Amino acid sequence: PIPLILDCDPGHDDVFAIWLAAGDPAIDLRAITTVGGNGRLSHTTYNARVVTELAGITGVPISPGAESPLVRLLTPAESIHGDNALGGPRLPVPAREADPRTAIELIRDTLDASAEPVTIVATGPLTNIAMFVRLHPDRLSRIRQVVWMGGSTGRGNITPYAEFNSWTDPEAAAIVLGSGLPFTMIGLNVTHQVLATREVVAGIGAIGNRTAAFGVELLHFFNATYETDQGMPEGPLHDPVAVALVARPGLVTTVRARLDIELHGTETAGATSVDLLGKLGREPNADVATGIDVEAFWKLLEKAIRALA
Ligand code: BDR
Ligand code: CA
Repeated sequence: PIPLILDCDPGHDDVFAIWLAAGDPAIDLRAITTVGGNGRLSHTTYNARVVTELAGITGVPISPGAESPLVRLLTPAESIHGDNALGGPRLPVPAREADPRTAIELIRDTLDASAEPVTIVATGPLTNIAMFVRLHPDRLSRIRQVVWMGGSTGRGNITPYAEFNSWTDPEAAAIVLGSGLPFTMIGLNVTHQVLATREVVAGIGAIGNRTAAFGVELLHFFNATYETDQGMPEGPLHDPVAVALVARPGLVTTVRARLDIELHGTETAGATSVDLLGKLGREPNADVATGIDVEAFWKLLEKAIRALA
């Protein structure tokens, strides 16, 4: 199995990323780190503890990272994820504590303990990963690749051109991209293809375990807020797509392209510029997702949830 660190800000769709990473036999989930994003760090960390314990995931340390973006102020995505970043279900009080190490320390120790390079999947703002890059440049060779849910080849969701994770901490995204680490971007152009339709929600409900029942409650809330906030009655399950790309190469198709992050735009800060036509004449620096086998994705996710508690 592929050793993996999941850096996330749960968040409804982050929860499914956690469950996919823990439930899929192709992945060896070694650590979870949290970041301020969809909610304040205290909420995203608490939520990670809740949903791992609920799903019976043991032996995976969870460490809190950055409270806020490198330069900008955090604006949690309350209109989508609610006041606590995980609106909808009643959250059971988790018995297990977070790991005493910081996210940066946990990433460092996880890399050091691994015989082979470790993949980092990031499903929130890239603040923690950027800090790691800056603090531990000597350890970057121990990272196989960074796979990030963020950005878009086209429209945005938090502004007309910027996607939320990219808009929240564009400076961090630019640092990670500039580090030379192999980088894959999975943006809204692909994640908006995996919608929590009535059939999808029913399929997850039919799994019949406690994790699935909690997941259905999450999706009901998520679909309702997506309808009011984004005019999409079926919410897109962005984050698990990044895990699926690692678990099943080929399920998500990518192209090599030049990717740049807009840091200074008056209307476009956080926009991802993806040069699909090669017009800029700059060296390609990223794999950018362009397509997904939607059926195979839902099958993979259902199978993983079935393997949990
Ligand atoms: C991204 O922003 C968050 O709201 C989601 O969890 C996802 O990571 C989608 O733009
Ligand atoms: Ca997220």
